Amino acid sequence: MGPCLPLARSFARANSQLKTPLQWRRASSLSTGGHTVVDHHYDALVVGAGGAGLRAAVGLTEAGLKTACVSKLFPTRSHTVAAQGGINAALGNITEDDWRWHMYDTVKGSDWLGDQNAIHYMTREAVPAIVELEHYGMPFSRTSEGTIYQRALGGQSLIYGTGGQAYRTACAADRTGHAMLHTLYGQSLKHNCQFFIEWFALDLMMVDGKCVGITALSMEDGTLHRMFARNTILATGGYGRTYFSATSAHTSTGDGNAMAARAGLPLQDMEFVQFHPSGIYGAGVLITEGARGEGGYLLNSEGERFMERYAPTAKDLASRDVVSRSMNLEILQGRGVGPDKDHVYLQLSHLPPELILERLPGIAETAAIFAGIDITREPIPVLPTVHYCMGGIPTNYRGQVIDVAAGGEEKVVSGLYAAGETACVSVHGANRLGANSLLDIVVFGRACALDIAAQNAPGMPHQKSAPEIGIESFQDLDAMRLADGDMLTASLRHTLQKAMQSDVAVFRTAESLSSGLARVQGVEKDFKTRLAVKDKSMIWNSDLVETLEMRNIMTNAVQTCKAALERKESRGSHARDDFPDREDGTWLKHSLTWQGREAEEVKVGYRGVVMDTLDQAECESVPPKKRSY
Ligand code: FUM
Repeated sequence: MGPCLPLARSFARANSQLKTPLQWRRASSLSTGGHTVVDHHYDALVVGAGGAGLRAAVGLTEAGLKTACVSKLFPTRSHTVAAQGGINAALGNITEDDWRWHMYDTVKGSDWLGDQNAIHYMTREAVPAIVELEHYGMPFSRTSEGTIYQRALGGQSLIYGTGGQAYRTACAADRTGHAMLHTLYGQSLKHNCQFFIEWFALDLMMVDGKCVGITALSMEDGTLHRMFARNTILATGGYGRTYFSATSAHTSTGDGNAMAARAGLPLQDMEFVQFHPSGIYGAGVLITEGARGEGGYLLNSEGERFMERYAPTAKDLASRDVVSRSMNLEILQGRGVGPDKDHVYLQLSHLPPELILERLPGIAETAAIFAGIDITREPIPVLPTVHYCMGGIPTNYRGQVIDVAAGGEEKVVSGLYAAGETACVSVHGANRLGANSLLDIVVFGRACALDIAAQNAPGMPHQKSAPEIGIESFQDLDAMRLADGDMLTASLRHTLQKAMQSDVAVFRTAESLSSGLARVQGVEKDFKTRLAVKDKSMIWNSDLVETLEMRNIMTNAVQTCKAALERKESRGSHARDDFPDREDGTWLKHSLTWQGREAEEVKVGYRGVVMDTLDQAECESVPPKKRSY
């Protein structure tokens, strides 16, 4: 069994006794008297211990590979724990269903920017993935017949969009992510994955375009580490905290994306940031779409169920981009509620209290704590809030990271995989459907492990690397730790998050996006020239760790602004007032952005969307058409 939090210190000590420490006596390390860098060698390395990371770790250890998992959080505190509504699979327990209908809905939900081979793979594998979770012991809610309960969620239909609402979302009340994360953590311990908990991953180590591992900081004791592995999986989550108000955990700082960017790799579709319709007004905390799936609806100041006007068929269960835009339009047209008419209501008080208690206990508690509301009697004040990042590290459906050269040639990056919100595989395209995220993490976490296990046996030799590999990463760390300017990380972060919130919002224009880009670049400049880190120590230095996260946030934010400014159309979550239509002729393509280690000017490129499924005989492609709900 791997060590847990109280054992972390002795574990770090045990590791340092196993390997001969290297003494770095160069550049910035001299100014602190030198750091000891400890080396570790594994067959496989997972960075991040949310659902994707843990599912990958389970698969790797099951295959007998010596596997380490590095996480800046205790695994069960990873952001997966906050997922509420559920996980999609065409189990057909409530309504008749077919995974091909799930595939159709996902392609349509993505506004045709999703890669159809990957969507084919995910929706087909969804049913066995749920059965596997059930066998791992995940405590799903049940129907009276004892099968897994499934609720309605946004953008789900029956019979290729013509036959009504599908009940496709398997759930554990409104705490599905919590149930999943604990289940997967248990499984990973059973198979003896070695955890390095509260370690901050700094950089990828690359040799001739191949990934050979990562550098890391142990936050608890301030030791520095090089983790060598034949294969590394990035499963570090999204970049929601580039924004001021987000349902994402404060730890969702796009760390894996920024590590890839610093290694010279492209990020893909960064402009597509999802706003969830129901963040609690003022607090930004999530109220699950499952609340509308169980019969809740949105109201404006005139008491009108306004979604009937915007999406006559699906109404409140249209896809998230559609509902969020409709809410904003109601507010802009003066029909918002509250003294400032700047939000709307989510009404649940017409539902039977026993249904709320059984199916939505978590949000009843959340609404009481964060809005002072008893949802059995009063509506919840809600506002669209940043929730999910469709963009990330480009991968294929096996989880292998893709590099794209200036001339457009694509190649797999040897030794590097990505899964979950940090990856852009791309199954969500321009807009993710609710409950496809928990599905994505288990399906593609598993896919990474399967591919690595198929190509590697335990104990195979590692790629040779230079003795100094990783030193730049530690030098950068020290440069930040010793920064002595006049601007604190917290104030730089606040300026950046406010800029993103106001200028790169639900509705965008060239003017707002240019302003957003300039404001973010201003923060980048201040970070380089005026940063102040007050705590100079190495031990549990939260000032330093927040600065490392801030560096990552900036990388994600600037690429989001740039890609959004360049995409001159509206598609999915990217709604340009100045280019209101989807333009498949020009823009049916993925955006790519590169920045590099020195936070240089962002470069932009494009690659094609995969319109072919894995096998046309099993599942036909879905040709683009106008999206309506
Ligand atoms: O609304 C929700 O419960 C969120 C689900 C999701 O983002 O998949």
